[in-house]
Amino acid sequence: MNEPVKIFASMMCANWCNLERDIRELESAGIDGLHFDIMDGHFVPNLTMGFDVVRSLRQITQLPFDVHLMVEEPERYIDRFVEIGVQFISVHFESTYHVHRAIKQVKDAGVSAIVAINPATPPCVIDYLLEDVDGVLVMTVNPGFAGQKVVLSAVRKIADVKERIRRIGNDAFIQVDGNVSFELAPTMIRNGANILVGGTSSVFVKGMSLSESVKKIRQIVANTVVGLRV
Ligand code: DX5
Ligand code: ZN
Repeated sequence: MNEPVKIFASMMCANWCNLERDIRELESAGIDGLHFDIMDGHFVPNLTMGFDVVRSLRQITQLPFDVHLMVEEPERYIDRFVEIGVQFISVHFESTYHVHRAIKQVKDAGVSAIVAINPATPPCVIDYLLEDVDGVLVMTVNPGFAGQKVVLSAVRKIADVKERIRRIGNDAFIQVDGNVSFELAPTMIRNGANILVGGTSSVFVKGMSLSESVKKIRQIVANTVVGLRV
């Protein structure tokens, strides 16, 4: 993926009383996609939105939808998100005995398939999946909640994942999710991140409008990317 670094907004951090208003503001701010955290209270100790919310929002915007499945037995939910018309689905390596089968299920449906790994999961688990995925999601917090502190070893892991992708010689992208802050984003990008998921850390920031925060994270991304080219 040799495109500029993209920024997705984590919708669990949006204003749930005004989702449409937030989406309009994110659109005008030039956000690249909307990230939906789907939780089942089992794989992670929290609940968020389900099919109906994502389906309703699908009717009001053309932005790419990225569904992050933090659920046990993800195979049971993939086809219904495909039907809704999402563009990316990530499946956690830790959430199923047969992650390869689940990834294939996403790919065979024509949707970009992402394998997600928790902070404690070593990067080598992706080696035999890389030829079948479109991307790898490196979680830099333990999934389940917004507003958590980064796990620094997982930020280092981004570089390891990047190296494995290079060694295998494919063009899988790296998505990073969890405390993607203004301060940490440059290191994440230098380590190889291609898509940043911003929640309370860089998009839905207290005291800033969505246009201000998206502008700021974009500027940081642009400065970092220019630095990389030198
Ligand atoms: C955590 C979610 C993230 C989260 C990111 O389980 O996957 O998308 O909302 O939000 P912040 O930026 O607050 O870490
Ligand atoms: Zn997420």
